[in-house]
Amino acid sequence: MGPSILSDEFLASLESSVRPVEEAEMLPPVCYTDPQFWEFEKEALFAHEWLCVGREAWAKNPGDYFTSSHIGEPIMVVRNREGVLKAMSTVCQHRSMLVAEGRGNARSFVCPYHNWTYSLDGNLVAAPAMERTQGFDMKGVGLGQLKLEVWLGFVFVNFDLNAPPLAPRLTELTKALENYDIEHCDEPAHGDTWTKSPWNWKVHLENSNDGYHANRLHHGPVHDLCPSDRVTFPELPADTAGYFRYSGTTDLDVGFNPTRKAILPLFPKLTLEERHRFLFLNIPPTFQMFARVDWATFTIFHADSHDAVSFERSWMVAPGASKEPLFNERLNIYFATSATIGAQDRHVDALVQVGLKSRYANRGRYSYQERAQQDLNKWLVSRYRAAWQRMK
Ligand code: FES
Ligand SMILES: [Fe+2]
Repeated sequence: MGPSILSDEFLASLESSVRPVEEAEMLPPVCYTDPQFWEFEKEALFAHEWLCVGREAWAKNPGDYFTSSHIGEPIMVVRNREGVLKAMSTVCQHRSMLVAEGRGNARSFVCPYHNWTYSLDGNLVAAPAMERTQGFDMKGVGLGQLKLEVWLGFVFVNFDLNAPPLAPRLTELTKALENYDIEHCDEPAHGDTWTKSPWNWKVHLENSNDGYHANRLHHGPVHDLCPSDRVTFPELPADTAGYFRYSGTTDLDVGFNPTRKAILPLFPKLTLEERHRFLFLNIPPTFQMFARVDWATFTIFHADSHDAVSFERSWMVAPGASKEPLFNERLNIYFATSATIGAQDRHVDALVQVGLKSRYANRGRYSYQERAQQDLNKWLVSRYRAAWQRMK
């Protein structure tokens, strides 16, 4: 590994990415390709920000748990005996085996390796054949604890126990989602799909962020229902933890399927204005959501390294919609069009990562239709700057 790219000058050079979108330029390509910059991001962003791990509904009853992972840290979310949701590391405090995998219901977590046993709160409650071990006291031994917050049914965790709460910095996003009633939605298709992909996590987020490519890369009779020039960007408070954009549609209640109309029951509380647009919402560095008029999907990103990201995706529909006749058949039609569009996006992501590594990669300029990229830059650069001050 060569000398670190991080310096006061380098940090100063990022300022041009947070200017108004008409003046801004892209972050330096090296921010997407350099292993040392990725190490910096782990501390600057992932160690202190709220990271999405799933839905509260995935652990409804005492003892229910599900596992996740961010920046290589295995994490689980558990509902304890008192019904409180807790987040903790799964790393056994004996010799680091993981005490839980996948999902399930447990009375306690028994490490499979030597059977050290932890309560649902993560306290060590049994450790066989340790009575001769000098100075060993089970009291005070436990799984590493993380902070946990639930926002609209989404579970976010934070490695930083002093992190400020998330929801007060999401007020505008909460309002934007209000009529979708996300907390009570049916979740018919939970994406257990973790696809490890060879591009930087920001490349993935920026593609999802990007209304500019809507009727260009995806040009065709379906996606053109949501043309690039109908994108709007609401103003957000300076300390916002997330951001969003609206993409206006050519008609009321459009659907990405051959009928070009919504084919599932609409989210019942949407206003006329909301039925005339899609909503794209981001809470970096791990969460992103699209809401159409009859379905929504959220994606959890798992950044694996400077050039690898995994993602899992789940679908949500109006309360009760998944009980309607022919529901699965209709949803499968949406899956088919989404797969086509997704394949176009993933092809671009893979080639953008190739381009970013090139000696000819440039700090490109933006169209007014891609202000969400500048929103992301603001989110990133303020945190890069704060971390650099802390660390240097
Ligand atoms: S590593 Fe868990 S009990 Fe030994
Ligand atoms: Fe796309």
